[in-house]
Amino acid sequence: MAGKKIKILMIALEEQAQAFLTSGSNPIDVESVKTSDDFISFVDSPGHGPYGFIICGPLISDLKPTELAQSLRMQFMQTPIIYVTTKREQFERQEYIKNGFTDSFLIPLDGELLKKTIHESLELAYKAKKAMRAVKLIDIGANSKLEFDLSIYLPANKKYIKYSAAGDVLEADRLDKLKEKKVSNIFVPVDQMKQFYEYSAHRLKELNTPGKMSETERKERLETAVRDLITGMFVTDSSTVTIEAGKMMVSDCQEIVSTFINASAPGDWYGKITKTIGSTSDTYSHSLSVSTFASLFSLGLQMGKPEDIVIAGMFHDLGMADVPVEVQNKSESERSSQEKKLYEMHPEISVKIMKERKLIVPPTVMSGILQHHEKFDGTGFPKQLPGNRITIEAQIVALADRFDYLTREEPGKKKVFPQQALEQMLTDPAFNPELVKKLIIMMPKS
Ligand SMILES: [Fe+2]
Ligand SMILES: [Fe+2]
Repeated sequence: MAGKKIKILMIALEEQAQAFLTSGSNPIDVESVKTSDDFISFVDSPGHGPYGFIICGPLISDLKPTELAQSLRMQFMQTPIIYVTTKREQFERQEYIKNGFTDSFLIPLDGELLKKTIHESLELAYKAKKAMRAVKLIDIGANSKLEFDLSIYLPANKKYIKYSAAGDVLEADRLDKLKEKKVSNIFVPVDQMKQFYEYSAHRLKELNTPGKMSETERKERLETAVRDLITGMFVTDSSTVTIEAGKMMVSDCQEIVSTFINASAPGDWYGKITKTIGSTSDTYSHSLSVSTFASLFSLGLQMGKPEDIVIAGMFHDLGMADVPVEVQNKSESERSSQEKKLYEMHPEISVKIMKERKLIVPPTVMSGILQHHEKFDGTGFPKQLPGNRITIEAQIVALADRFDYLTREEPGKKKVFPQQALEQMLTDPAFNPELVKKLIIMMPKS
């Protein structure tokens, strides 16, 4: 691993431990940080992040090494975090491993083993960064400058071949060649995913530019964007789970919905509502509709923050991924008590998935999701909260959720107009009648 720097946190460093690591046989090439300011600035520095952390000895401040490891873990899930000390009295290896450290070593006892382990884990972390991530070919536009490498995978040779290099413009005929060969996935190095996310967010903005693309293409791109956004929440490749990627997902989500909303005449609240009414009941269109309705309701009622409610609406049912379809399709009365329990966990699972995916969002977004099945009369789930304890964000998501269910045009289902849907909701004890009344006033009578 010559030339690969590893950062050592040097606050309250035990000099003996540091000297051992950086000298003698098999020394480790370290970049050390001496002050907490330096430490914060490198943790926050954009780019590739460190290959690993070594914390030498107890810290001066009140922060315990395990507390530091836990907070580093939140941001660097896969990065080795190693604790090294010469103080035998404080050495509790199991305790450290339980609390966020990859491993912990006592010097000089563990000396050579320590160096070997550090070299190995750095090698692994380095390889992980060089790994490839599949992206959809449809997300790449022709004749635009790409700030990331694109590779294709040759399964027969088990090899990636670079197709276009960062800084190149991928011309239409070269892109078409891939389409002709029915290539649907193309690969970007994991450490260039940030550039890819920036690029795709930019492309999403183009959807809003009149004349940039046909209405059909725009719709297709929006549908793909929602599908990518939602399926992207379930990635198992933890190397792509970064705060940066989480931020991009949040802004993509807001971008998608604002594109959807802006599609109709400005200021035409009712027009925007009717335009959102869907005709398919899959998760993706439900998520997009609830997100759009909820933000429009929030704008109309002038309650809650529409930009937060958008996110709650988009991800409210993520946790359904853990509920078997046959349980989802049953009505409330048909579910056994065990199925009911399983179903009622979905709001909490949604929040859990978002946390795992490092989506840093205001607490109102989380409560909007967590409480979207609470009812105004206190008979909902999971907590049976009474109306005055349900956040406004959750009440608005719940209204949008039901509104989408009622107005959706589906074969074999009676068509319900927006006004009728709201009239029905007005007499339902699940909702705050004051909010529903306000929405009814805003709907023109047909
Ligand atoms: Fe739900
Ligand atoms: Fe829902």
